[in-house]
Amino acid sequence: MDFDLILSGDLPASAVRTALVVPVSDVAGPVSSVLTDDEAAAIVRLQESGVFKGKAEEVYALPSSTDAYALVLLAGVGKPGTCTPENLRRAGGRAVESLRRDRIERVILECASDWPAAAFVEGVCLGQYRFDKFKATSPDAFSGCVASVGVLCTDQAQGAALKADCRYAASVCENANWARDLANRPSNDLTPAQLAYEAKSIADHYGCAYDFLDEGKMSELGMNALLGVSRGSSQPSKLILLSYHCGPELPTLALVGKGITFDTGGVSIKPSEGMHEMKFDMCGASAVLGAMRTVVQTKPRVNVVCVVPAVENVIGSRAQRPGDVVRAYNGKTIEVNNTDAEGRLILADALAYTVDTYRPDVIVDLATLTGACVVALGHHAAGVMANNDKVFSTLQGAADATGERIWRFPLWDDYGKLIEGTHADLSNIGPPKEAGAIMGGCFLKEFVKDTPWAHIDIAGTAWGVKNVPYWDTKHATGYGVRLLSEWIRRETTAAKK
Ligand code: BES
Ligand code: ZN
Ligand code: ZN
Repeated sequence: MDFDLILSGDLPASAVRTALVVPVSDVAGPVSSVLTDDEAAAIVRLQESGVFKGKAEEVYALPSSTDAYALVLLAGVGKPGTCTPENLRRAGGRAVESLRRDRIERVILECASDWPAAAFVEGVCLGQYRFDKFKATSPDAFSGCVASVGVLCTDQAQGAALKADCRYAASVCENANWARDLANRPSNDLTPAQLAYEAKSIADHYGCAYDFLDEGKMSELGMNALLGVSRGSSQPSKLILLSYHCGPELPTLALVGKGITFDTGGVSIKPSEGMHEMKFDMCGASAVLGAMRTVVQTKPRVNVVCVVPAVENVIGSRAQRPGDVVRAYNGKTIEVNNTDAEGRLILADALAYTVDTYRPDVIVDLATLTGACVVALGHHAAGVMANNDKVFSTLQGAADATGERIWRFPLWDDYGKLIEGTHADLSNIGPPKEAGAIMGGCFLKEFVKDTPWAHIDIAGTAWGVKNVPYWDTKHATGYGVRLLSEWIRRETTAAKK
């Protein structure tokens, strides 16, 4: 999406396929420098009659009374005091549905000066996402969606800052949409090798280091927890490594993402109903790769490494069986009592390798790890477990700013005892139906030594979210790209101090 600044008074005389978009609260009508008297009067009438009140997520397309734009789109944001970034983001998502119907390609955004206009732009960017790679013709294809946004302002300096904010917000959302494209691809298209190819394309395009470990190398290094999961598959697994290096004196942040390109459950096979959704079991991987795109595009003063174990969890005569014992990269032995708890097995080796190789100052992992997390929080927050309060609180700040919600679960030692193995050091599952999400977190904790670390279980938020206008229920959300991009920005600012 392109952005430009329009100073009030410089509106073009005539514009087709352009909408003036005005976020409106449900108390006072919009204070606008460009609306015509007729339009302003029409808005007052709409609000007085209750046809359009300005409630959150309400939209109304008003015919224009000038040639400068084809229509005025009123986007409700609720009470002025509750006009949070999330209200504006959702208003943007709603607005885009209406703009699409009206074939609008350009938006002139006029937002109250103390409102975070960038959040509205995020809603537009995320809301106009479509996945039609595999459709011969896109059902709602037309000559374009919102391709450019003119930010309307009265003062050049304020406008320039606003434009920069909007442009940054849009680029992070484009990375989220890129991650959604990866996640939505089915497993016969997006194999571990393809995931590695996509990671390499980030390095080739923006310039950072790319490498990967193949199965031979992983075997030499003793990554048998990961290799056990991949045994049943004819698709070779990869440990994908991206590294953005800014300076040796700067802290290193590590992002690790679960990259199961398909999860059948293995021999502990899943029920067939809903199994197709397990193509999304690489949403942790797509999120960390999307965040890495933000890093290489914005080049912050911090080092960032991104590690993705990419593996297919299927069945076959060679597949690992329940009860098998494997020795992980860090020497700990694991009883694989359920082959469907495979995410923690591949992450175990990936985390231990990341700690050893890069000695990061902090690690965050993202994973569609447990159905139990969806039972606990539904689709409206990810579960976070952390061994460090500071890491959690920085993440919480980023979650509040982006609307990508998190909720913390504890990692008390009493929980840790529940994953002790009978025949090995650890079991990959705890007792049935007890704190399933926490069991996953406790298991991963065994592989990060004392590195400050947070695990984000995105099983609920990665797809299937209902009633959030800038996401849709059927496709991946790209959850995590905005959260991590913001978290890295905050960690970078903190490192400067
Ligand atoms: N990928 C699944 C978790 C999942 C399930 C994510 C549903 C999103 C929606 C994971 O590998 C898994 O199967 N976990 C098991 C763990 C159990 C065997 C301890 C689960 O949640 O049932
Ligand atoms: Zn599984
Ligand atoms: Zn899984």
